[in-house]
Amino acid sequence: MTETTPTETTPTETKEQVITPWEVEAAPGGSVDYMKLVDQFGSTVISEELIARFERVTGKKAHHFLRRGIFFSHRDLKELLDHHEAGKKWFLYTGRGPSSGSLHFGHLLPFTFTKYLQDAFNVPLVIQMTNDEKFLWKDMTLEESIKYTHNNVKDIIALGFDIQKTFIFSNLEYIQYLYPNVLKIARCVNLNQIQNIFGFKESDVIGKFTFPPVQAAPCFPDSFPHIFSSDDPEIKNIRCLIPCAIDQDPYFRMTRDIAHRIGHQKPALIHSKFFPALQGHNTKMSASDVNSAVYLSDTPDQVKDKIKKHAFSGGGATKEEQEKNGANLSVDITYEYLTFLLEDDEQLKDIAEKYSTGIMMTGEIKQILIDLMNKVIARHKEARSKITDEVLSSFMSIRKLNF
Ligand code: TYM
Ligand code: TRP
Repeated sequence: MTETTPTETTPTETKEQVITPWEVEAAPGGSVDYMKLVDQFGSTVISEELIARFERVTGKKAHHFLRRGIFFSHRDLKELLDHHEAGKKWFLYTGRGPSSGSLHFGHLLPFTFTKYLQDAFNVPLVIQMTNDEKFLWKDMTLEESIKYTHNNVKDIIALGFDIQKTFIFSNLEYIQYLYPNVLKIARCVNLNQIQNIFGFKESDVIGKFTFPPVQAAPCFPDSFPHIFSSDDPEIKNIRCLIPCAIDQDPYFRMTRDIAHRIGHQKPALIHSKFFPALQGHNTKMSASDVNSAVYLSDTPDQVKDKIKKHAFSGGGATKEEQEKNGANLSVDITYEYLTFLLEDDEQLKDIAEKYSTGIMMTGEIKQILIDLMNKVIARHKEARSKITDEVLSSFMSIRKLNF
């Protein structure tokens, strides 16, 4: 028997969740508490009413990521829709820090949603590749970061972005165009603020402290003189919408705080939840943790192995137990992945019912997911095989866009 009195708590019991652009860790034993994050970060939950507005403005049924609360939080999305309906200009901005040779399923959330937004609104899109960030944070040479950039850009292009409306840039190559805004932003943010927002420690290398303005600069249209002409008298009124998982929010909280001081509009944001790690809801699928992730480059057998061996199960430990009690869907990773990947609402509902009541076994639902993931990967590999170095150069070339 323990001697613990009610007032005593062990350190692990009081440990809070940590969500930063580099670390996602739920409170011990739990899953990421998204409502708490919204509270802490000061963003707003996407309401049913806002989703209905989205449908009216786009004239389409809302994407299943919106319907199922996967994109769940925002900043200024209502104002952005007002801006759009008034016929005013805006653009999309998202990005990727190339930390592995291939994208994984988690990256499909922001990127497929961005493509859907580009198609729905017919707006220009800029995609930042932060190879500088990964060089500073990871044990990686610049050459490796450049190689990963090229491989990741091919993955991104293969998702179907419109070359007439999409500009993809690598920080190492494009920095000179960002630099004027990087400087203006850097002059508005002091050490205290950067430490508060990002949690950097005094022992962290100084490259980390100077990086955030580089991710902030593309929020502003004059960072892209080839896309948004400086002769446009409306250039200061062009707004930007950023789709990303909520881990990236700190960068843009900082940006929103200083935007007006340098004569720009605040960026609007739409945040997604995390595609969880195979092992469970306490952290995200991460490119730098091979075991947590299913990559778009995995073979059918690798996918089968990862899901069968590692996908955390909420099902009964034995066939008998599963038949008797059914599965706990709220901790079941296989089911969670299906909510992201299976577009058919009816089929998803049917699976949820059968699996949670023990009619369906863990092996069966895992097989459905394995087949679906392998289908997505096969389609992706086919599309990616057509992305030559020339196509990549065209997307990354400094040029006018048509929109
Ligand atoms: P990076 O490469 O870590 O991630 C790229 C995008 O994918 C999201 N993401 C996820 N979404 C759902 N589930 C996951 N498991 C998961 N893992 C990653 C990230 O939130 C991000 O949207 N610093 C950035 C690159 C960047 C950027 C941006 C991102 C530069 N500018 C503007 C968004 C918007 C990074 O390293 O992302
Ligand atoms: N359809 C939009 C328009 O004509 C295109 C657009 C979106 C745009 N964002 C932009 C044009 C930014 C210029 C700058 O207004």
